[in-house]
Amino acid sequence: MSKKVLLLGYTGKMGIALCDAFKGYDLVCKNSQDFDACDFDAVKAMVVKENPDVVFNTVALVGIDICEDEPQKAYELNTLYPRELASLSTQLGFVLIHFSTESIFCDREDGFYTESDTPKPLHIYGITKYGGDCIVEALAEKYYICRLPLLFGETNRETQFVEKMLKKAESGAVRVSADIYTSPSYSKDIAWEVKGILEEELPFGVYHIVNEGKASLYDVFKEIVENLKLDVTVERASHKEFPSKAIKSVVTPMKSEKIKSLRPWREAIAEYTKSFEERS
Ligand SMILES: NC(=O)c1ccc[n+]([C@@H]2O[C@H](COP(=O)([O-])OP(=O)(O)OC[C@H]3O[C@@H](n4cnc5c(N)ncnc54)[C@H](OP(=O)(O)O)[C@@H]3O)[C@@H](O)[C@H]2O)c1
Repeated sequence: MSKKVLLLGYTGKMGIALCDAFKGYDLVCKNSQDFDACDFDAVKAMVVKENPDVVFNTVALVGIDICEDEPQKAYELNTLYPRELASLSTQLGFVLIHFSTESIFCDREDGFYTESDTPKPLHIYGITKYGGDCIVEALAEKYYICRLPLLFGETNRETQFVEKMLKKAESGAVRVSADIYTSPSYSKDIAWEVKGILEEELPFGVYHIVNEGKASLYDVFKEIVENLKLDVTVERASHKEFPSKAIKSVVTPMKSEKIKSLRPWREAIAEYTKSFEERS
């Protein structure tokens, strides 16, 4: 019998990719129309009722500025709600797959952050997400924490980097930070890797799941524009031109010391832009 998977946050960027990768499973999908992650009694009742073998948590308050604006909501969604899921995981015996972020790290001079590096978050988003990681590690027995970098991939929202830039690019020119570095990654590749980790029953713990390499936001957006053959000028800028509401970490490339890197990020962008054109 296939495992029952409860996917919380199926309408987000990771949720859409996970829905696709886990098609063959007994999949139950929920989003904010179905439950409020800040209502912990309701979360508990829903999880108990569904009685899943595996729970994916992609629900979070994502982004530096929004978390600075709404710190209480950030704490509830990014730390306290994962705590609820982690303790339910231990009580009910399901595997919890929780998603985390590069934003728990601050800047490094060279190389890549691995799973054994100590996080040092600089803002409410990073602090509350790291709080979620710590509490899942402390309370859950069967868990994977999947730490992700900047994502590109299918989404219905316009609130994240790639979608915001594509919107801005409609004016014909955009300036993009050439001094913020990440390991840009495709949500679809990550979802398939997570499926592999679960099916191969890799040891529980923290995993960095990223496409191979390191790139600036400028490199990422230029690559997307070139692949889509858009008539847009992409100019190099400094992140100092776009102040955020908190000090932000700017050099957070990641890799894993536990699993093989996924294909190089440029290859992943080539497939993403092809599927983007097919959907438009
Ligand atoms: N996107 C990135 O570049 C990135 C980078 C690093 C790490 N991550 C991490 O990856 C995870 C997934 O991110 P994402 O980009 O997929 O997020 P997203 O696109 O913002 O999606 C969030 C999902 O959570 C649901 N949700 C939000 N608030 C809720 C609430 N109060 N109750 C119930 N459901 C709620 C949303 O449902 P509705 O559609 O109904 O609103 C949506 O399905 C997060 O943990 C994030 O920190 C993301």
